[in-house]
Amino acid sequence: MVDTAAHELARSKRSHDDPNAKESAMAMVVEGQPVVVTGGGSGIGAALAAEAAARGASAVAVADVDLEAAEAVARAIADSGGTARAYDCDVTSPESVGELADAVARDHGTPALACANAGVMAPLAPLLEASGADAEWTMRVNVLGTLHTLQSFGRLMATGDEPGWLMATGSEHSVGVPHLRAAAYTASKHAVLAMCDVLRGELPDHMGVSVVCPGITTSRLWDSARLRPEEYGGAAESDPMSGMLMEQKGMSAATVARRAFDGIAEGHFLIPTHYHPRIYAQLRADEMAEAYDRLAEIDTADYDLNTIVAQYLSEADE
Ligand SMILES: NC(=O)c1ccc[n+]([C@@H]2O[C@H](COP(=O)([O-])OP(=O)(O)OC[C@H]3O[C@@H](n4cnc5c(N)ncnc54)[C@H](O)[C@@H]3O)[C@@H](O)[C@H]2O)c1
Repeated sequence: MVDTAAHELARSKRSHDDPNAKESAMAMVVEGQPVVVTGGGSGIGAALAAEAAARGASAVAVADVDLEAAEAVARAIADSGGTARAYDCDVTSPESVGELADAVARDHGTPALACANAGVMAPLAPLLEASGADAEWTMRVNVLGTLHTLQSFGRLMATGDEPGWLMATGSEHSVGVPHLRAAAYTASKHAVLAMCDVLRGELPDHMGVSVVCPGITTSRLWDSARLRPEEYGGAAESDPMSGMLMEQKGMSAATVARRAFDGIAEGHFLIPTHYHPRIYAQLRADEMAEAYDRLAEIDTADYDLNTIVAQYLSEADE
């Protein structure tokens, strides 16, 4: 049985559920404004950087732990008439991301859009056999790296009152598609969505946040272990079959980037780029709803943490 009142209450707690509210702000933001992309040296990040330039960004900061790759992307943007600059940044280090934010603000001004895109996928292995070091590396880059990027650029944007937007690269694995033999990666992408879901309720009115959730996209993600630091086992070769599948079956990174920018231009929080994850997301939502209906009794007391905290705060104010 569905408790309609509880349903309505949960809906009302989605504070940024009016997509049109941010549309005009975002249109201003990209055109004539600085944009920064982490993991901008390859794949989706390189395409996001190129798309930002094509949409009239005043400058694109292409940040990557692989500086040479970032420089090549910045050069390609400049060759097409845009303005771009490469930055060396390791998102696993809050200091490195903080220095990036300072450098971008100094060189181009506060970015209107920051894309927390850098991510890795460790060599595939079933959870019971996977290495703990690979799981740690995945979490450090995909979860903490995203957190550091959202924090550094979010704080910069929050100090002013100009429109500012944060976009994290999640995945179809954020919304319920399990990636077999990549449990830590799947978990890391759930975490990206969760962090952004919290953040959207906390940001000031002049800021917004989106999560782009691509499915398979042609990139070098399959070969992430080329970058694995020594402390997590060092560089390694990856299964070339994954590379072949990504190359042959993936959506182009340019299409993903275009859909991502279309999504933020309309102020959407969730930005899917491929359709099939909807089926998985629906199955998960149905499974959860059925479990709650079957096992959790509808209580007369309100145990909703958000309601409890809101009531406490309003009573403390009186
Ligand atoms: N390719 C896909 O099928 C797919 C699907 C969904 C989501 N994603 C996500 O897209 C994002 C981009 O990945 P991609 O597919 O373009 O892969 P990619 O390997 O082509 O690009 C990732 C970039 O991130 C950089 N990077 C890695 N570790 C870093 C660090 N510590 N600090 C800074 N930069 C770092 C790499 O040097 C590389 O340039 C990732 O978050 C990935 O999880 C990819």
